Amino acid sequence: MLESRTLFNPFETADMDKPELTPEELEALKKRHIRSFVMRRGHISAAQKRALDETLPRYELPYTGKPLDYAEIFGRDADTVFEIGCGMGETTTAIAALHPEVNFIGCEVFAAGVGALAKRLDEAGLTNVRIFRHDAVEVVRDMIPEASLAGVHIYFPDPWRKARHHKRRLVAQPFIGMLASRIRPGGYIHCATDWENYAEQMLEVLEGEPQLENLHGAGNFSPVMGNPISERPTTKFQARGERLGHGIWDLVYIRK
Ligand SMILES: C[S@@+](CC[C@H](N)C(=O)[O-])C[C@H]1O[C@@H](n2cnc3c(N)ncnc32)[C@H](O)[C@@H]1O
Repeated sequence: MLESRTLFNPFETADMDKPELTPEELEALKKRHIRSFVMRRGHISAAQKRALDETLPRYELPYTGKPLDYAEIFGRDADTVFEIGCGMGETTTAIAALHPEVNFIGCEVFAAGVGALAKRLDEAGLTNVRIFRHDAVEVVRDMIPEASLAGVHIYFPDPWRKARHHKRRLVAQPFIGMLASRIRPGGYIHCATDWENYAEQMLEVLEGEPQLENLHGAGNFSPVMGNPISERPTTKFQARGERLGHGIWDLVYIRK
């Protein structure tokens, strides 16, 4: 795993015209990465659709491929936490309400989820959250500056249970190496899953990432309440996992 991080990384932001790239590297760079999601035409309620049209514009950050300036976006200097896969946004809204002093940027590709999140933020009157409706891998790669985030939340990412789909899992290299580089020293990444095989993969990937150190000691999962800035509320997918009799695994790592 360590070895693979030293190889050419097609996720890294790179200038396509850089003379030092070999033709193979250029090809790898142009190749689209494997997505951690599949776009489906899911059901969207009238209220969620209305929120997408009328409310989201107040919260949405467009994907531009240019580095973000958090102070300009939020109009203040504050810690910024990035969440990948907000789902229907209950957890994002609850944590943002608990921490008005922190800026939150949520990323979600599922339209009904983005609509639901915008609606919740509006109803709660929150101003410390912004939303990307875009692939988080591309947002991190192109728009999140190095060593800029106070924290990252990845709660119950799609488990991609079948072995042939494991390549779609988000908590995997090289993405985690790139994501870790966007966390400032002392900042954290908090992941959670209800799928044991993915929990084992998360532990292996995060332990093997040289930029990160396990907050709870090498090789250990975290207590559910082990998040440095907030207790993690039960998410929708956690509740579903528990109903199905699944275990819950949390992992918290600090950027060295
Ligand atoms: C299983 S759900 C969990 C939602 C929520 N965190 C929870 O715990 O209830 C995972 C979510 O991640 C989103 N997702 C997956 N890959 C993503 C990506 N690359 N960028 C943004 N969102 C993504 C999916 O659309 C889905 O809504």
